[in-house]
Parts: sequence; structure tokens; C-alpha cells
Amino acid sequence: MRHAAAVQPEDQNLPKGFQRSRPLQDPKLGALWESIFLDETLKSQLLSQAMLNFTLRSKVDRSVIPLHGVILLVGPPGTGKTSLARGLAHRTAESFRGGNFRLLEVEPHALTSSAMGKTQRAVSDLFSQSIAEAAANGPTIVLLDEVETLAADRSKMSLEANPIDIHRATDAVLVQLDTLADQHPNLLFIATSNFPQAIDSAFTSRCDLVMQLPLPDREACSRILKDCLTGLSRTYPAISRLAGSAQFGGCAAECVGLDGRAIRKMVANALASSPQTAMNPEQVTIEDLFAAARAAKLSRVQGDKHK
Ligand SMILES: Nc1ncnc2c1ncn2[C@@H]1O[C@H](COP(=O)(O)OP(=O)(O)OP(=O)(O)O)[C@@H](O)[C@H]1O
Ligand SMILES: [Mg+2]
Repeated sequence: MRHAAAVQPEDQNLPKGFQRSRPLQDPKLGALWESIFLDETLKSQLLSQAMLNFTLRSKVDRSVIPLHGVILLVGPPGTGKTSLARGLAHRTAESFRGGNFRLLEVEPHALTSSAMGKTQRAVSDLFSQSIAEAAANGPTIVLLDEVETLAADRSKMSLEANPIDIHRATDAVLVQLDTLADQHPNLLFIATSNFPQAIDSAFTSRCDLVMQLPLPDREACSRILKDCLTGLSRTYPAISRLAGSAQFGGCAAECVGLDGRAIRKMVANALASSPQTAMNPEQVTIEDLFAAARAAKLSRVQGDKHK
């Protein structure tokens, strides 16, 4: 549920389907990029692909290199896709200093929940008018979060269960992507999905890069955990002792199998291990952290069994 209160001043009069529009660079988004611990080669590959979009496409004909200006991030929930996508937008703009970039965020549910028969029109209007207009005004990056809702796999749709309207919405997205790719070389879509099987293969085929984000490995778990503790110790200085504890490494190992979001939430669970600790978080112990990690892993395993 998105609240109107979250809308920023610069969002006044946003066209339908946009959740947010903001000028880049934005240091807050730079902090997001830094907050996601991922193999540096993957981060570098992602940034390079986004940069290439803005250096090459205006100069090389699409008959030579048929770029569409679409990067797709896929991976389990909580692996940092949305954070990385926003951070990538900032880092790309930062690479082209003075480039006057803008980041637009599309709210796919606002389009697909349109009244019956209107989805295709809403999608077409968004791409052919609002996005095209933004791209005509300067380099534009568009975040398509949860893209499986917009580019649903047509081959898996039963026409009884899924309104034909949604089917047509996918057609509209594909047509619009082709048109925009032809006309606006200074446009980049960053799409995310934790349900790649539900995305139409013609959409995936148009992506210039599909990157699979993994669950954090042991090293990444350790960095996420340390980042949480360091961040908390800015408010509760005594918490910094946990990161130096002899059991810290074991605790990080216990987190392997959890996604990044689950690790950060698990730390909050440790702070809530008793009413006393909740009232005074500096009382949290490394044992509380261990117990919370174990419990998070256990609930994950049980959750998987019930799927
Ligand atoms: N590799 C990681 N390193 C550090 N933090 C992470 C990592 N992965 C996820 N997180 C944290 O998890 C939270 C969720 O991240 P985000 O919303 O970007 O995930 P997502 O992949 O888009 O999830 P979803 O598929 O559910 O939309 C954020 O607080 C983020 O900092
Ligand atoms: Mg997300």
C-alpha cells in the first residue's frame, strides 16, 4: 500500500502510472548502491552496461548492435534488486557529470488495475507519451519494478483466468519498447522481477543484460551484518562490541541462506529478544543475534516446506 504522504514535492502533477520522478544525481541513491553488498564484478558489469547505453546508442546504428536500453535484474525477494536499480540510476548519472539525468519510477499496478479494457491504453499512453516526452527532454532512466505485472508471459495466460486486456498490455509494452529504442537512445529502463518465469520471453529477449542477483554468500552476510551493527552503534555505541566478538564470524555463517532483507530484519528481531532489550537496545548480546539468525533460518525452511 503506497501512501500519498510518501509523494515528494517534485512529484506534483505526475502523469498516471508514475510513482515518482526525481532529478539525478541523488546522494541518497548513491548510499543505496553502497548499501548492497554484492560481488564487485557484478556491480561493475551492471554500471558499465548502463554507461554503454548512453555512450553507444546515439552513435551506432541498431542494425549493427540492436540495443533496446533495457536491463533486467532478477533474483529472490530481498536480494537488493530495487535498491540496486535506484543506486544504478544515480551512479550512471554521476558518470556523465552535468548530464541532466532524471529517474522516473513506474507503478505497474496503477496501470494494470485500470478499469477493464483500459490497461493496454494506459500502458501505451505511459510509454508513447509520458516516457517519450521525458526522454525528449534529457537522458532518462525508468525503473520498471516488478515488471512481470506489465510484461506477463502471454503463453502461460489462460484467457478464462486472465482478462485479454492484460494479454494486450504485454503486446503494447513490446511494441512501445521497440519504438522507444528506435527514437530515444538516451533512455534506459531498469526492470526488476523476483518471478522471472512469469515474464514474457519476448520481453526478456529485448533486454540488453539480464542479471541474476544471488543470495548473499558468507562474505556478503558478514558485511551486511557488520553494516547493520555499525549503523546501530551510531545511535547505541555499546552495540559496536558485537561486531568485534569472537562469535561474530559464526553468527555471519548462520545467516547464509537468508536474503539481505531477512538478515537486516533478523538484527531487529535480536533487539526485540526481550522487553528489556527492546527498551534498551544496547543490552543486545551476540547470543541474541545467534538465536535470531537461527530462528530466521528455521522459519525460512518451514516456509519453503509449506509452499
Ligand atoms: N546484498 C545485500 N547487501 C546488503 N543489503 C541487502 C542486500 N540485499 C538486500 N539487502 C537489503 O534488503 C532490503 C530489501 O532490498 P530491496 O528492496 O532492494 O530488495 P528486492 O530484491 O527489490 O526485493 P523484492 O523482490 O521483494 O522487491 C534493503 O534494506 C536492502 O538494504
Ligand atoms: Mg523490489
